[in-house]
Amino acid sequence: MFASAQHVVVFSGAGMSAESGLNTYRDADSGLWEGVDPLDMASIDAWERDPEPMWRWYHKRRRQAAQAEPNAGHLAIGAWGNKAQVVTQNIDNLHERGGATSVVHLHGSLFEFRCAECARAFSGDVETEVPPLCPACGGLIRPGVVWFGEALPQREWEMAEEEISLCDLLLIVGTSGVVYPAAQLPFLAEEAGVPIVEISPQETELSPLASVLWKSTAARALPQLATERDTH
Ligand code: APR
Repeated sequence: MFASAQHVVVFSGAGMSAESGLNTYRDADSGLWEGVDPLDMASIDAWERDPEPMWRWYHKRRRQAAQAEPNAGHLAIGAWGNKAQVVTQNIDNLHERGGATSVVHLHGSLFEFRCAECARAFSGDVETEVPPLCPACGGLIRPGVVWFGEALPQREWEMAEEEISLCDLLLIVGTSGVVYPAAQLPFLAEEAGVPIVEISPQETELSPLASVLWKSTAARALPQLATERDTH
């Protein structure tokens, strides 16, 4: 399936970066939401109530992501060149650092910032303990990530729909498929009759959509695909 596919979309989640040492959200024990209530640290209401703890939490996660390295799964996808487009829920930059050139971030990025008031992009110093202030309007600078209670960026959503409508193979890697509207995207592929392969160590909400559930991990499975493709 992989060898004959011309346009592969990789729909990835936090499991893609687990072997780079970044915690997923819902894995038992290690999941971020085991220790932190997402409504306290990843919602627009929490930001409006008390932005400073959130700013520090994302600051910590940005540093962890910057210190992490792309794993063999990221590198395998990067080596596929423009055969693959990535549509990710992840806010780290490991797909890009692994060589992927087409990456759509449905939930934003730890490395982008904007003013919470006037929405202007901010590229000033963010290594601060409290949110910097917008030079244009004085509003608080926030991480460019999508929080619970917020809509996904329209442009990225449309790009993701477009990629899914054009693909001839959907690879789902490292997502539990429980968060909408992102988890809706594989259903669009199913409706379009696109073959779906899921790579995950365990069954997920999206497994019923997959014609192949490959019980493995991102860093172990993805490099094998490249090998098969080369030998075809
Ligand atoms: N390789 C592949 N998959 C893995 C690996 C691995 N090494 N390790 C764990 N997984 C799988 C888990 O089994 C799980 O199915 O990755 C999935 C991670 O699921 P979640 O932790 O729920 O992460 P994700 O699906 O990306 O969460 C979606 O929820 O909180 C929001 O905005 C946040 O983007 C995030 C969204």
